[in-house]
Amino acid sequence: MKRVYLDHNATTPIHPEVKAAMIAAMEVFGNASSHHSFGREAHELIENARKTVADALGAQPEEIIFTSCGSESNNLVIKGVTCGNSVCKIGCERSEVIISAIEHPSVLNTAKCLQGEGKIVHLCPVNENGVVKLDVLESLISDKTALVSIMYANNETGAIQPIEEIANMISGRNIIFHTDAVQAFGKIPINVKKLNLDFLSLSGHKIYGPKGVGVLYKKKLRKVCPLIHGGHHEFNLRAGTENTVHIAGLGKAVELCIADMDSEWQRLGELRNWFEAEVVHRIPDSIVNGADADRMAHTSNISFRYIEGESILYDLDFDGIAVSTGSACSSGSLEPSHVLLAMGMDHGRAHSSIRFSLGRSTTKEDLVCTLGALERTVTRLRNMSPLWKDRIKKA
Ligand SMILES: Cc1ncc(COP(=O)(O)O)c(C=O)c1O
Repeated sequence: MKRVYLDHNATTPIHPEVKAAMIAAMEVFGNASSHHSFGREAHELIENARKTVADALGAQPEEIIFTSCGSESNNLVIKGVTCGNSVCKIGCERSEVIISAIEHPSVLNTAKCLQGEGKIVHLCPVNENGVVKLDVLESLISDKTALVSIMYANNETGAIQPIEEIANMISGRNIIFHTDAVQAFGKIPINVKKLNLDFLSLSGHKIYGPKGVGVLYKKKLRKVCPLIHGGHHEFNLRAGTENTVHIAGLGKAVELCIADMDSEWQRLGELRNWFEAEVVHRIPDSIVNGADADRMAHTSNISFRYIEGESILYDLDFDGIAVSTGSACSSGSLEPSHVLLAMGMDHGRAHSSIRFSLGRSTTKEDLVCTLGALERTVTRLRNMSPLWKDRIKKA
């Protein structure tokens, strides 16, 4: 059976050149903090990767902190600038944090955790296309705001947020600005200096690198409290002997994705647009969610009304096709995606959604195969759905 992987926003396969770089790095067993030649070899691998990441972001190498994943990077900045410890003056003196309603759980739940410590967390709403409402954001910002954290691109819909406008809105007000760029980095050009960002998070496994490695960009003069205390690693901001192999893999992954970023954007955008047009044409009552937003070229979120996304997912999996839903398991039941609900959708439409995320290996043939399977699946499931039967009767 032909297998089709359309879940690149969940994770990406390791690029063969990344794998080769990691295998080579395994031979370098020294501790990067050691002063002998073995240590220096490991140190050099890490510093080369740091420079590659810094160059890709338009940053300085000393502004790049390696972490264990995107979630850790998000935790480090959110907790690290707002904790009662005095290293971050703004975070100490001000009590409010603003995030958007569509953030990844690693931002949402970290911010919620601050509420227990007496901080006030504002959730900025989004419009029907999943884009942050700038006028509301402006009204939430005050001289009590310590941190604004808004994701660069949403993982479920691909909606790109107006990061430049937000940076301009915040500029000169002594507020810390962080963006979770886990889904955008490596696919869209990002220059932290041009955007005047204070912090940015990224993750290795979304860009054909290994799982278990991430980065937090920290602007030079900004302060953050470490989450993990210990040795002097990562400029005293993230203790623990560096994971040389994963960091070397991340460096290679960054180099590769930057090299073909523009051509992949073009290729995947054309494939995605063709796929969406075909779905809407061939499958009645299918709606592209967030269609009018500026979106990541490889992401498509579509609702197939009157049936559940989970049923579609399992049916497609039977046919060898891997997709995802944004549903989350909560107290034993499936909750519809918080992102789609924040866009104002009713539960039915949100529950019936599927995310297709394309990647480097995706071909037109994959999408043709997916379309056929999808048409069969949706028809079969709808034939069993009382809601659909009702809809047909009324039509
Ligand atoms: C937008 C976003 N932020 C953060 C993360 C977490 O990254 P990691 O899996 O490296 O912890 C993800 C992962 O899906 C994501 O999509």
